[in-house]
Amino acid sequence: MSKSYKIAVIGGDGTGPEVAREAVKVMEAAAAKFAFKLELEDFDYGGDRYLKTGEVLPDSAADELRQFDAILLGAIGHPDVKPGILEKGILLRLRFELDQYINLRPVKLFPGVETPIRNKGPEEIDFVVVRENTEDLYCGIGGISHKGTAAEVAVQSSMYTRMGVERALRYAFEYARNRRHARPWRGLSADDTAAGKTGQVTLVGKTNVLTYVYDLWERAFHEIGEADYPDIKRDYNHVDACCMWFVKNPEWYDVIVTGNMFGDIITDLGAMIQGGMGIAAGGNINPDGVSMFEPIGGSAPKYTNKNVINPLAAVCAGGMLLETLGEIEAGAAIEQAVRDVTGTKLQSMAAGRMGYSTTEVGDLVAERIS
Ligand code: IPM
Ligand code: MN
Repeated sequence: MSKSYKIAVIGGDGTGPEVAREAVKVMEAAAAKFAFKLELEDFDYGGDRYLKTGEVLPDSAADELRQFDAILLGAIGHPDVKPGILEKGILLRLRFELDQYINLRPVKLFPGVETPIRNKGPEEIDFVVVRENTEDLYCGIGGISHKGTAAEVAVQSSMYTRMGVERALRYAFEYARNRRHARPWRGLSADDTAAGKTGQVTLVGKTNVLTYVYDLWERAFHEIGEADYPDIKRDYNHVDACCMWFVKNPEWYDVIVTGNMFGDIITDLGAMIQGGMGIAAGGNINPDGVSMFEPIGGSAPKYTNKNVINPLAAVCAGGMLLETLGEIEAGAAIEQAVRDVTGTKLQSMAAGRMGYSTTEVGDLVAERIS
């Protein structure tokens, strides 16, 4: 009997359902090719449901989703709902309740995709950001007092636990180790090689100002790296400098590990250097639980139901989903098919300018897998 996976699909808002549909189409093609099955179930969480029912997410949602092998998410964000309600109430709540403590965001320039960075190509732009996904400023510690008066004060605290930091760091070191099989890192010097290093993890922080939180990160980084990952070179960047190097020397990076807030910011920059939101995918990962994969761009409301949005980010998220379930070949086949489509077919990654519709792009990828 062939393997079967239960996948929850949350199309969400705006163009989310359209891109999720294409991702599912491609995942189905991969399932047929590599002889496994997908049992899909749709969930209607999102802005429309909230506007109709007043409920953002039923309390049972996390328990229900825990019954699945993985979750595919289209997009969250509705123009008629105040910013923060859906993002916090659906996306962040699921990340927290399902303890998806890693946000894995590859920054990979595919062939044929235009990058705004001059003289850099797919050889130079190919790294992964491991963003801690459950702590930091995102944990909601703080408050407002004397609201609306001249004495009003607002506090929002960044919080890190040794456990939270440590599990993110270990994930990054392991990832760097395993990544060698897929791609030899070209940044190693002769000295590194002589010292037995095979890859690199760069900690991105702000140890010159955030002297508590990133001090904890930095100590844990070197302690864990030295004890358990002597084969991985350790590097450190301040977050502001990292933004500069993303643009100037992206080839220096292999695996980056960073906190939730900095990870949020630098991965939007990363998405731009890899060709834009149309192609950037990510995974909210709980290595011991249920993970949730999503295109990292938003819901792009103005393009809703026009069949013009680029579905490739969602398609790549579907590839990451299958890879995380252990269907390595299926994940690789999806990436290869996407590379082929960007390299030989699409005129642009931008909505409405691809030279094909949303559904046609899904077809192009799916037929290359079959
Ligand atoms: C992301 C998004 C979310 C985040 C928002 C929508 C809460 O920007 O996934 O990067 O900040 O994590
Ligand atoms: Mn973001």
